[in-house]
Amino acid sequence: MAIPVIDFSKLNGEERAKTMAQIANGCEEWGFFQLVNHGIPEELLERVKKVCSEFYKLEREEGFKDSRPIRLLNELVEKKSGDKLENVDWEDVITLVDDNEWPSKTPGFKETMAEYRKELKKLAEKVMEVMDENLGLPKGYIKKAFNDGEGDNAFFGTKVSHYPPCPHSELLNGLRAHTDAGGVILLFQDDKVKGLQILKDGEWIDVQPLPNSIVINTGDQIEVLSNGIYKSVLHRVMTSPDGNRRSIASFYNPPLKATIAPAPQLVEKANQDDLEMVQAYPKFVFGDYMSVYAEQKFLPKEPRFHAVGAM
Ligand code: OGA
Ligand code: NI
Repeated sequence: MAIPVIDFSKLNGEERAKTMAQIANGCEEWGFFQLVNHGIPEELLERVKKVCSEFYKLEREEGFKDSRPIRLLNELVEKKSGDKLENVDWEDVITLVDDNEWPSKTPGFKETMAEYRKELKKLAEKVMEVMDENLGLPKGYIKKAFNDGEGDNAFFGTKVSHYPPCPHSELLNGLRAHTDAGGVILLFQDDKVKGLQILKDGEWIDVQPLPNSIVINTGDQIEVLSNGIYKSVLHRVMTSPDGNRRSIASFYNPPLKATIAPAPQLVEKANQDDLEMVQAYPKFVFGDYMSVYAEQKFLPKEPRFHAVGAM
């Protein structure tokens, strides 16, 4: 079983209806799908891979050697207790947003990543328009919700992550199981080194590496806006004893001050279709959700919706 691979370029041709349906299926049944022919130039993607790997070598690798996960793992191995490490991830990560400090030693990093982020943000907006249409919402509905009305207020971030080889991969995860807090996530994962898995029908399955594809997944805020038609899906990253896995996740989220609620059209439709069904999610301020998430990221998501609904 493999997550769906969808040719995004077919959206503009004869196979538009079929492609729309494939994306609907990816959103409803999987919460994760891979796009090929997504319109991001290959040449740009090649540069992104190059500058990110160079950045890790030049600016991060040395520091990872005395990082918290290494220390905790060494302690555990010395104790020989047979326990696993439950509270740490084997991940090196920096986050790029428009106005934070970016790494400056790696030639071409800033320019390339700025160009990449611009392209990815446009792709996120295209994907959101497809979701609008598939959900029967007015064009631009999700974008507007994630921009707190008009304008350009979305929070668009890019995590540059590496999962270095781990000498005891049986003792901890690269990234513990979670769902993503925000809106739409676009992941550019390693060409060869696998590690990302999603929970599908009770089974962990690999998100198979596919060079230069972009993996799309839906976060908790898409679940809320869609009134549960699109669920955020649990995923995790496994460690491996060989290979340094590169993964670049960009997330299109609402700003902290945005109010998020299920789309009224979808609540009404749910009510018509099934009298038992009421609005399945509360209305809340996204910043409040993030406060809850900061405490409960690696716990089941349902209590997060309850907690923020009670705030
Ligand atoms: C995340 C995430 C997966 C990866 O950052 O939320 O799930 O492959 N990342 O790095
Ligand atoms: Ni995630």
